Amino acid sequence: DNDMPSTIVIFGASGDLTSRKLIPALFRLFQKKRLPEGTRIVGVSRSDFSDEQWRNQLGETTEKFLPASFTAEDWKQFCQHVYYRPGDITKADDFVALGKHLDELEGAACDRVYYLSTSPRLYESAITLMGQAGLADESAGSRRVIIEKPFGTDLASAEALNQSIHKSFHENQIYRIDHYLGKETVQNLFALRFANTIFEPLWNRNYIDHVQITVAEEVVIGRRGGYYDTSGILRDMFQNHLLQLMMITAMEAPARYDANLVRDEKVKVLHSVRPMSGSDFACNTLRGQYQGYLQEDGVPAGSQTATFAALKLYIDNWRWKGVPFYLRSGKAMSCRTTQIVIQFRSPPHLLFPSGKMRTPEANQLVIQVQPAEGLQMYFQSKVPDTEMKTRTSHFDFRFQDAGPDGMPDAYQRLLMDAVNGDASLFARSDEVELAWSIIDPIINAWGSAAAPDLHVYEPGLWGPTESSEWMQGQKRSWFDVCPVL
Ligand code: BG6
Repeated sequence: DNDMPSTIVIFGASGDLTSRKLIPALFRLFQKKRLPEGTRIVGVSRSDFSDEQWRNQLGETTEKFLPASFTAEDWKQFCQHVYYRPGDITKADDFVALGKHLDELEGAACDRVYYLSTSPRLYESAITLMGQAGLADESAGSRRVIIEKPFGTDLASAEALNQSIHKSFHENQIYRIDHYLGKETVQNLFALRFANTIFEPLWNRNYIDHVQITVAEEVVIGRRGGYYDTSGILRDMFQNHLLQLMMITAMEAPARYDANLVRDEKVKVLHSVRPMSGSDFACNTLRGQYQGYLQEDGVPAGSQTATFAALKLYIDNWRWKGVPFYLRSGKAMSCRTTQIVIQFRSPPHLLFPSGKMRTPEANQLVIQVQPAEGLQMYFQSKVPDTEMKTRTSHFDFRFQDAGPDGMPDAYQRLLMDAVNGDASLFARSDEVELAWSIIDPIINAWGSAAAPDLHVYEPGLWGPTESSEWMQGQKRSWFDVCPVL
């Protein structure tokens, strides 16, 4: 259905995500002529704007967010396809009226994507009302719905949400966004692993000592205290982004790049994660809170919410048995960097007497997800004009074909895929539920009397000092390197 025109309906049209991400992404796709001919964008929210007023507002914000590629001429062209329609997504009648309005606007068969850019609290009722108003009916074109995380706040609520959505939409109509999957470098993991022959033979327990996945952020919580304090780092980052990165790093090659085949392989990784119990929570998890968190707006006195976590997970399957996956993320860290480090084993035997040759560092492959998109391979080489001294050298690859605004924003890829009906880079219901089943026990343990200490850490470093000590205790060390931009 690639050539069929699409209507993209954005609920929550006056919200921040719409102006900051969705409209700039759609505008760029329009400039690149990627959207099917006749595509329309219809914004819906309670505010009483005219088409013209909404277009003008979006013009200003889009110019601000895309300083390098915005032109007044392109915007004028794009605007002709942008409409606004007031409506309240808590009211059944408004959905019925919207349905009629869309039918008239479209005039003929047309695909539709509904983007719920609203508070997650409204997903369930909005989707139910959409179903009742016939908006999921696919007789005049496909009907897809996009929702953003959080998909529930624990396993039980995620299951309830999925069950309720499935009463109105089939699973293959549902596109759950994890924006990390829209990042170019995350997709490049598929290319690195499955479009080359030199990495895959080494990509297993025989050659890899451990894997580190770090998502460090320099920012603090700021004005998001109200939300963040009920969420914490495990719900906000691990249940989704970090586990996604782990799945793609660890998965087997799917038979084809097909949405369900790809997700089947990812889900198998989650099925293989060794459940934690007993002393595991104390030995294999670490939590921290940056100094100053308690003073942020909206954070209750004495809050025990973690803003940093490190987990040691095992994937019990043939490929990964015994290889720890260290997952770490935190706010108020030394720099913004997302990186995956594949730490290879040390050479089994050294040829040269000690004293002549120092114990070489094991090979490392560092996948820079952001912001220094690229990868580095570290290896040993001989220092010239010495008997047999070695030093660490590296190959360095940087993506250089980014557009005028840098790497394309994740939302461009994800919106395009939703319009084209490709769900490979979206989270399936079983994936979301399994991810919760891994994270829930840790959240529960952290809320119990047996919780590991909450380490307070100084902002601007790599989290609590206990985190480095924890690694040292395992004769390993974090790759604490801020990428050179
Ligand atoms: C979001 C989290 O999902 O991801 C935020 O809610 C976090 O807390 C953000 O800052 C990080 O995304 P990115 O793309 O900036 O790495």
